[in-house]
Amino acid sequence: MQRREFLTGTLAAGSGLVLGARLSAEPQPLTTQGESKMPFQQPPLTYAKSALAPFLSEEQMMYHYDKHHATYFKNLNGLVEGKPEAALPLREVVAQAAAGPVFNNAAQAWNHSFYWDCMMPHGGGQPKGDLAAAIKRDFGGYDDFKKAMSELSVKVFGSGWGWLAADKQGKLEIMPLGNADTPLKHGKEPLLTIDVWEHAYYVDYRNERPRYVDGFWNVVNWDFAEKCFQAAVK
Ligand SMILES: [Fe+2]
Repeated sequence: MQRREFLTGTLAAGSGLVLGARLSAEPQPLTTQGESKMPFQQPPLTYAKSALAPFLSEEQMMYHYDKHHATYFKNLNGLVEGKPEAALPLREVVAQAAAGPVFNNAAQAWNHSFYWDCMMPHGGGQPKGDLAAAIKRDFGGYDDFKKAMSELSVKVFGSGWGWLAADKQGKLEIMPLGNADTPLKHGKEPLLTIDVWEHAYYVDYRNERPRYVDGFWNVVNWDFAEKCFQAAVK
């Protein structure tokens, strides 16, 4: 078994024995962990809460991860206990739920796990490989893509998310979506997201959403986005 597979498998099992490895190892995708069934468990971060500074402070991360994200899991478990949704993977709950509290909490639980994966300490730079080629094809180039994704994310009215998503043919689309909405509800595969709920940035940036969105590109995890792109077109 490769080291990467071992770490991923260990993390997916939710073992508390490898906390040190979680924090020191190369960041691993979290979202598969979020697909565990009821009780749905908030995946551990693969980096320390201080590790994304100065983009996000430890205090900002603490409120976002420990308070907001954790609450969506707590609410979801309370809502689905004893119901058919409790037997589904989290992603399926998101895909199947009608508009309402179950969808809102399931989607917010899943969206945030995905968001944590989209960032990494010492991230940034530009995409490589097939995703870079697709960005060039569909947006004209990285700079044009970044400008468009930033602008559309900043312009989300109220709370929501700026998403980069792909269809099964690999065509890319920037999707600014409100509240808990996700490309999963639109037949698209998420590749990247920026949380633009105020709770994501208010500790560090107050009302300055554009400055927060600008900083996101300094920690973006393009390796994760590339993996999602490969999965989308597989
Ligand atoms: Fe959030």
